[in-house]
Amino acid sequence: MSVLIRGGRIVTAVDDYYGDIFIEDGVIRQIGASLDVGADRTIDASGKLVFPGGIDPHTHLEMPFGGTFSADDFDSGTVAAAFGGTTTLIDFAIQKKGESALKGLDTWHEKAEGKATIDYGFHMILTDMPEERLPEMERLAGAGVTSYKLFMAYPGVFYVDDGTLYRTFRQAGDNGTRISMHAENGLVIDEIIKEAVKDGKVAPKWHAHTRPTRLEAEGVHRAIAIAEVAGVPLYIVHLSCSDALDEVKRARARGVDVIAETCPQYLFLDQSAYEKEGFEGSKWVMTPPLREKWNQDVLWQGLAFRDLETIATDHCPFCFKDQKELGLDSFTQIPNGAPGVENRMSLVYTGGVAAGRISLNRFVELTSTAAAKAFGLFPKKGTIAVGSDADIVVFDPERRETISVDNEATHHMKVDYSTYEGIEVTGMPETVLSRGRVVVSGGSLETKGGGQFIRRARSGELLR
Ligand code: URP
Ligand code: ZN
Ligand code: ZN
Repeated sequence: MSVLIRGGRIVTAVDDYYGDIFIEDGVIRQIGASLDVGADRTIDASGKLVFPGGIDPHTHLEMPFGGTFSADDFDSGTVAAAFGGTTTLIDFAIQKKGESALKGLDTWHEKAEGKATIDYGFHMILTDMPEERLPEMERLAGAGVTSYKLFMAYPGVFYVDDGTLYRTFRQAGDNGTRISMHAENGLVIDEIIKEAVKDGKVAPKWHAHTRPTRLEAEGVHRAIAIAEVAGVPLYIVHLSCSDALDEVKRARARGVDVIAETCPQYLFLDQSAYEKEGFEGSKWVMTPPLREKWNQDVLWQGLAFRDLETIATDHCPFCFKDQKELGLDSFTQIPNGAPGVENRMSLVYTGGVAAGRISLNRFVELTSTAAAKAFGLFPKKGTIAVGSDADIVVFDPERRETISVDNEATHHMKVDYSTYEGIEVTGMPETVLSRGRVVVSGGSLETKGGGQFIRRARSGELLR
């Protein structure tokens, strides 16, 4: 099967030019000003932007959490991602306490295999790692799982102590892999939560009030210090606020290998969402919580000036009915997380490029290339180049839509509300290709299934 994408404005993290792209057997074979080549299918991209497919390095599909499972599985979640212009996800496999991480990996392979419509990889969440099991980490890297997520939050669930952090950081560094960190002081937060509950403060808004920004910043500071001593490249996930960003900036200024991700929810929404009527605020109960509005400008600045490296979604959807409602009596029982995998590219284009905050090149870097480089997918993914996978988005920069659970153009996620309900976006994917297969075209799903697990390279190595 061959495809010719004709006459689009091709934008990568560094390039910006008009041209044609010829694809055969899932790979980009030729790029040129006006290619003289026949193809099984020609896509007219004139007047459109042509981007590398988005890479979302932070999703939770069919994840057991908060007494339930996140509502999208690898079928619905990857279809929704494709509609939104994302062609690769890095999801999280979970190692259960006392069990092998390799067993956790098998479980997640079973969840995804044969279901995914776009390509995917896994980070491994470690919930313990005694000395004698450390060799598992090398075996994971050999199996293409070259990054981890560890948690300072959620005591009794995912939390690990600082000794475990240091031990795993050392091993990950030795193996040429990367650590992702959920940085919040979960032990102190749990004490604050107990105080709130004792005082009868159990409405959704108390989720935000019990997780101060200083305790996210403290977690970031501590993670950086431990990573610096252990010698491992660090990635701070879902950074939400100015306080935490200051810690990243300070560390980078002294040469520490730390990069950080933020998410659209922290760029577009703020903690006033928790003040909505009744139980409505539970829709935005996520961790870290939404912050005071002024933080948004600081985060956008961090993205523009390269203190923040990537924009991921932390897509972790729970239906309002029956799932969020588990916490009707107390915010402590609300499953943490919100949907967003489908809306990331349009939101970032709208708030970033259309609003004049970031360039087109930076948009591609933040939504695709930087994650590919950080997590061992580049140059197979994350760019438009001869030899790269033909993961490509033909993007209509003029099309406007209002994000809504009721708008078929913006909501294919299997969840009964939208995090971004009512926000108007400018710029929508028109055609989305995953390894040369047209997955989405003109608002319809053309191809279902066929997504593959990608064995990622180690830090600093290229994936071909
Ligand atoms: O609220 C969130 N973020 N849920 C998903 C788990 C996590 O901490 O990333
Ligand atoms: Zn987290
Ligand atoms: Zn997450």
